Amino acid sequence: MKLAVVGGGSTYTPELVDGFARLRDTLPVEELVLVDPATERLELVGGLARRIFAKQGHPGVIRTTSDLDAGIADADAVLLQLRVGGQAARGQDETWPLECGCVGQETTGAGGLAKALRTVPVVLDIAERVRRTNPEAWIIDFTNPVGIVTRALLQAGHKAVGLCNVAIGFQRKFAGLLGVEPGRVHLDHVGLNHLTWELGARLDGPGGEDVLPRLIRDHGDAVAEDLHMPRALLDRLGVVPSYYLRYYYQHDEVVRELRTSPSRASQVAQMERELLALYGDPALDEKPELLAKRGGAFYSEAAVDLAASLLGGRDGRGSPHQVVNAYNNGTLPFLPDDAVIEVQAAVDGKGARPLPVPRLDPLLAGLVSHVSAYEDLALDAALRGGRERVFTALLAHPLIGQYEYAERLTDALIAHNREHLAWA
Ligand code: G6P
Ligand code: MN
Repeated sequence: MKLAVVGGGSTYTPELVDGFARLRDTLPVEELVLVDPATERLELVGGLARRIFAKQGHPGVIRTTSDLDAGIADADAVLLQLRVGGQAARGQDETWPLECGCVGQETTGAGGLAKALRTVPVVLDIAERVRRTNPEAWIIDFTNPVGIVTRALLQAGHKAVGLCNVAIGFQRKFAGLLGVEPGRVHLDHVGLNHLTWELGARLDGPGGEDVLPRLIRDHGDAVAEDLHMPRALLDRLGVVPSYYLRYYYQHDEVVRELRTSPSRASQVAQMERELLALYGDPALDEKPELLAKRGGAFYSEAAVDLAASLLGGRDGRGSPHQVVNAYNNGTLPFLPDDAVIEVQAAVDGKGARPLPVPRLDPLLAGLVSHVSAYEDLALDAALRGGRERVFTALLAHPLIGQYEYAERLTDALIAHNREHLAWA
């Protein structure tokens, strides 16, 4: 089995490679190709990746290349984990929205729209090249904003599934609190990417006992602390929101914090410098501790599981149910079929099909509808460009919504992203 990772020079890659090494029985990777235009970084990351495989006795071959077409040739699956404009562009996304008193974040609000506009055309171009070289290959998209990017891929007819680590993070967290094996925890995870709630946590599969009420009762303080949200909010919701819901439930508080602290992009850029220095050390042959400070914990496990199921039947042994981003197709009855949602799905060689979900409370359904409509308009702006479409998407976003703000943010978005927007 051959896997290609586009954005393979990311400092995150050793996390992924560590997962491939540990979980080789689930996903026997014979060839791993790291593709990245940043050659220097790619060589540092590739060197460590090879040492991780060697240390763990993994027989797979790791190659690096800056030639996309060569890298994806013959790949059974292509993982997309790129960041157009790097941490510098992310830093902008996190900053200019604050001037309007709106959250500055790389996937939520106006910053998330900027990222979508930069990213969708690049990802679609890569996907087109994958289809041309390798029509049977699966595309696994980690590239944010995952909901919008996955929708773009599916609408263009690609064999794609979107993936995020929020659900697997909760699964691991809950399992630890409950003292059970992570694989036993089945989450009733519902919503859109970075806008999800755990409605239930069942032991041993979809029909199992729901232990979430007990978990909130006995461990609510620990869960709330992790999310940086008040315990009282968890008790009143009766479900567990992802930490991205903090940008909604505590929007103004977050804006105050962001205004007085260094951006996440600058923190990550500093960590990346330190990580790359570590990766250059020929004595290092495992993922360093520092990597755990990044947000992507467990993404390798999720990726291995998903790839194993999608390529299943041939070489894979993934879980039958996994949380992914896929077409709604009636799962949430208040959304269009072609909205992309993030839920548990049955995954196999034919793809991912959402499992039925419980009826959503209006408190959740309202926000999901609102953000899904924004995502629809955001994708339209990303595909067709133009100031008016950017404005409309911003006006549609529940965290913006006001005419003057949408006007100002449209100008700021275009001014800060001109070099990445073909139409601007
Ligand atoms: C989580 C999210 C990812 C996001 C990452 C950011 O893992 O699910 O979508 O990219 O956090 O982490 P960072 O360390 O770059 O802030
Ligand atoms: Mn994510």
